Amino acid sequence: MEKSPKWALVTGASSGFGADFARALAEQGYNLVLVARRVEPMEELARELQQGRQISVKVLGMDLARPGIGIELLRRITEEGIAIDTLISNAGFGLFGDFIDQPLARTLDMLQLNVLALTEITHAFGGAMARRGAGRILLVASIGGYQATPTYAAYSASKSYVLLFGEALHEELKPRGVTVTVLSPGITATEFLKVSGQKATRYQRLVMMRSRPVVNIGLRALANKRASIVPGWINAVTAFSNRFMPRSVQRKVAFSLMRND
Ligand SMILES: NC(=O)c1ccc[n+]([C@@H]2O[C@H](COP(=O)([O-])OP(=O)(O)OC[C@H]3O[C@@H](n4cnc5c(N)ncnc54)[C@H](OP(=O)(O)O)[C@@H]3O)[C@@H](O)[C@H]2O)c1
Repeated sequence: MEKSPKWALVTGASSGFGADFARALAEQGYNLVLVARRVEPMEELARELQQGRQISVKVLGMDLARPGIGIELLRRITEEGIAIDTLISNAGFGLFGDFIDQPLARTLDMLQLNVLALTEITHAFGGAMARRGAGRILLVASIGGYQATPTYAAYSASKSYVLLFGEALHEELKPRGVTVTVLSPGITATEFLKVSGQKATRYQRLVMMRSRPVVNIGLRALANKRASIVPGWINAVTAFSNRFMPRSVQRKVAFSLMRND
C-alpha cells in the first residue's frame, strides 16, 4: 500500500483531545506531526498509530508558550520536507480560581499558549496554506468563551478570543481555499481539570463528555466547512441560551455552574 501524502499537525497531542485528534486523523490515513512538551506519551501514541498503517508519525517535544513559536515550528516541519494540510491547534490549559489569587506568571503563561502561540501558529501555517490555495485549520476554543466565566476569568476570555478570531478567519480564508473551524467543547474527561486545579462540580459531572466523540464532531464540522461548532446538545443549548439572557445574567449563571459544591 502507498503511503498517504497528507499531513496533519496536532498541537497538545500528549493527552486528552490532542491524542484523540491524532487517533481519528490516523484512521483517516493522515501522516502526523505531534507536538507537546511530554515526549514519552507521544512516542507511545506514535507507535500505536503506526501499527498496521502505512503512515508516518513525527514527534516534536516543544514548549509552545514562547514568542516566535509559529515561525520556529513551521521551519522545523518544512525542513523535513513536510507541508501541513490540516492544522489542529489544540494545545491549551485553564486556571481555576479567583484571578488575583493566581500567580500572575502562570496566567501570563496561559495567555501566551492559548492566545499568542495559537495566533502565531495559525499565521505561519495558515499563510503557507493560503499560498498553496488549500488547507484546513481547526482551533479549539471552549464553551467558556461564550460568556464571562468567573473563576475562569482569564481562561474564558482567552477562549473568547479563539472563538471570535477563528470565526473571523473562517470568512477571510474561505476565498483563499482554506477552511477554518472553531470547536468549543464543554467539560470533557481529559487532564483539563487536573491541570486547572478544579474539582468537578455536580453540574460538570452530569454533563461531562468523553473526548473521542467531541473530536469526531469537530472533525466532521471541519470536513463540512462549518465556521463554528459546540459539541453535545446540552452544551449547544447552553451556548445558544445566552442569546436570551443579558450578559449580567449570563456571567452569574456561569459563576453558579462553576462553584464547587
Ligand atoms: N477538557 C475540557 O473540559 C475542555 C473544554 C473546553 C476546551 N478545552 C480545550 O481543549 C484543549 C485541549 O485540552 P484537553 O482538555 O485535552 O486537556 P489536556 O489533556 O490537559 O491536554 C492539553 C494538551 O496541551 C499541551 N500543552 C500544555 N501546555 C503546553 C505547552 N506549553 N507547550 C506545548 N503543549 C502544551 C499538553 O501537553 P504537555 O503537558 O505534554 O505539554 C497536552 O497535550 C485546550 O485548549 C483546552 O483549553 C478543554
